[in-house]
Amino acid sequence: MHVLIIGSGGREHALAAAIARSPLLTKLFCAPGNPGTADLAENVYLRTTDIAAIVAFAVAQKIDLVIPGPEAPLVAGIADALAAVGIACCGPSAAAAQLEGSKKFTKEIADGAGIPTAAWASFTHADEAHDYIEAVGAPIVIKADGLAAGKGVVVAATLDEAHDAITAIMEDKVHGAAGALVVIEECLVGEEISVFALCDGEDAVFFGAAADHKRVGENDTGPNTGGMGAIFNPPWATPEVIEQSMDLVIRPALREMARRGMPFRGFLFAGLMVEEDGPKLIEFNVRFGDPECETVLPMLVSDLLPALKAATEGTLASVKLEWRAGSSATVVMCAKGYPGAYATGSEIYGLEEAGQIEGATIFHAGTMAEQNGILANGGRVLAINAIGENLREALNRAYAAVDMLDWDDGFCRRDIGKRALWG
Ligand code: AMP
Ligand code: GLY
Repeated sequence: MHVLIIGSGGREHALAAAIARSPLLTKLFCAPGNPGTADLAENVYLRTTDIAAIVAFAVAQKIDLVIPGPEAPLVAGIADALAAVGIACCGPSAAAAQLEGSKKFTKEIADGAGIPTAAWASFTHADEAHDYIEAVGAPIVIKADGLAAGKGVVVAATLDEAHDAITAIMEDKVHGAAGALVVIEECLVGEEISVFALCDGEDAVFFGAAADHKRVGENDTGPNTGGMGAIFNPPWATPEVIEQSMDLVIRPALREMARRGMPFRGFLFAGLMVEEDGPKLIEFNVRFGDPECETVLPMLVSDLLPALKAATEGTLASVKLEWRAGSSATVVMCAKGYPGAYATGSEIYGLEEAGQIEGATIFHAGTMAEQNGILANGGRVLAINAIGENLREALNRAYAAVDMLDWDDGFCRRDIGKRALWG
């Protein structure tokens, strides 16, 4: 098979590593890719949202399967454009990608499908939103409806914070058009998990669970980021919680999407809060998580490519996945200043040595190759994964690899997985 991965992060490097192992693969491209994918695939300089250019390339290179990593090309209709020229795409149509693109749409699907989720209301007028929170009280969660680069959610502990969030989103328009509508939600309390399912429109196979670490600072302090690290199958993702996630969240969502004429294909990512009485839906994403993908895929024993193909052909019911025993953890190395302003261009040494730590894999995210060196070229720069017999071993190995790196301008959280180990 000729395969094209779209994206340039750690997630796409992890996808490339898994697909490169497949005996079914004849040629792998990554657009635009990064120095990590360059070792496994041919990088092609296409913008991830330049749908016309991607489709033209896929036709010219006789690509059999396109795998979009991030949400932007999906929301922009890449699956629809590829379908029009008869090329399979392991990702949802633009209509189905609204599950990530609009929080209100997700809440309507959840209500239509009877999925457990926080009570909610939506507003297009700020004064009504202000009145509503006065009536229901704090804590309360305020969300810009549209895509806001992961920054559109405020979990407000007090009514003052909630009023400020409404003012910022609706009146000061800090997220532009994404904040023309706000969703206001009951605040859920518990432990969060990311549950992944590969879907073919009708069927879904469980594709691993992970706990992300969203805040930039240790002990979950500071602003939200794209994710500072992740652990595989945290202790609060019990077999019962996973079963409930599949039966009460993922499968009902698939049925509801199909009923509305927008069947969901590709990776469905349920962000869940595990409360005492079971998991509650926080949000859907229409793609794999990052750094969850770098954490989950190293645990997959089965060939990834036939599973992705089955998702595009509607034959997932016959796919059984095999997973390794043990655990996996990922530590993200970021440029100092992230998620705020940061510098690029500093050189990272020790990558080869770090990659030799047993069980460790260094996934590139925001890097750039220059002459013989690798330079930082983004906020999240490297995702350092390690697998091990248990979480403690995986974490020890990941941090041992981090310690082999010599990069003055980088930092990471030193407490990834701490809550899972110590409670
Ligand atoms: P999102 O940008 O939608 O991923 O949300 C960011 C974070 O806000 C989530 O990972 C949760 O930690 C938190 N969050 C979102 N909705 C709720 C809710 N209803 N209750 C509690 N926390 C929430
Ligand atoms: N790590 C969370 C996400 O990919 O959205």
